[in-house]
Amino acid sequence: MFIKVAAMQHIETVEALAREIWTEHYLPIIGREQVDYMLSRFQSAQAIEEQIANGCLYFLIREAEEFIGYISIQPKEQELFLSKIYVRSSRRGKGYGRKAVRFAEELAKEKGLGKIVLTVNKNNILAIKAYEAIGFKKVEALVQDIGKGFVMDDYKMEKKRSEK
Ligand SMILES: CC(C)(COP(=O)(O)OP(=O)(O)OC[C@H]1O[C@@H](n2cnc3c(N)ncnc32)[C@H](O)[C@@H]1OP(=O)(O)O)[C@@H](O)C(=O)NCCC(=O)NCCS
Repeated sequence: MFIKVAAMQHIETVEALAREIWTEHYLPIIGREQVDYMLSRFQSAQAIEEQIANGCLYFLIREAEEFIGYISIQPKEQELFLSKIYVRSSRRGKGYGRKAVRFAEELAKEKGLGKIVLTVNKNNILAIKAYEAIGFKKVEALVQDIGKGFVMDDYKMEKKRSEK
């Protein structure tokens, strides 16, 4: 169900899913210019390849024969950073997000890391509700400059790894 991304074919699948999901979901939140900028800077095939080369892990979420979303994870010294979690709109609300967090928790456990951390746009209300339902709590507000006059205006959220 979670397929580790390494081959270029899968990297291109992530790139295509990112374009579809980010364009649809973020347009009303951050606008076209910032979506296009962030896609080219962070979710082009080349950018994803570089992130993987630098230790970031990407996994496609597969349902039957179809890829329906993806996650990316960065193990840090004290915590596991859940950098991206995106499910296609037609597949939301069916438990994939929760399963993806569970999967991240298993990786955290393997690596001896005690919590999962993520950042989410302050106006991404539905995602914040889903994260809260899964057990994340807001811990701080963060504004990060990402160049070209754009910022990521986020909450940092975290969840202690469950011991199960
Ligand atoms: C956020 C996201 C990854 C969650 O994945 P999902 O597969 O829809 O989540 P799940 O079906 O596993 O739901 C997890 C929990 O959140 C709750 N939830 C999900 N969407 C919700 C919503 N819109 N409002 C309130 N609660 C919600 C569910 O009820 C569930 O809780 P429960 O198990 O106690 O019922 C997904 O909705 C998504 O891709 N959103 C768009 C992209 C995005 O914003 N990604 C996050 C970027 S930081």
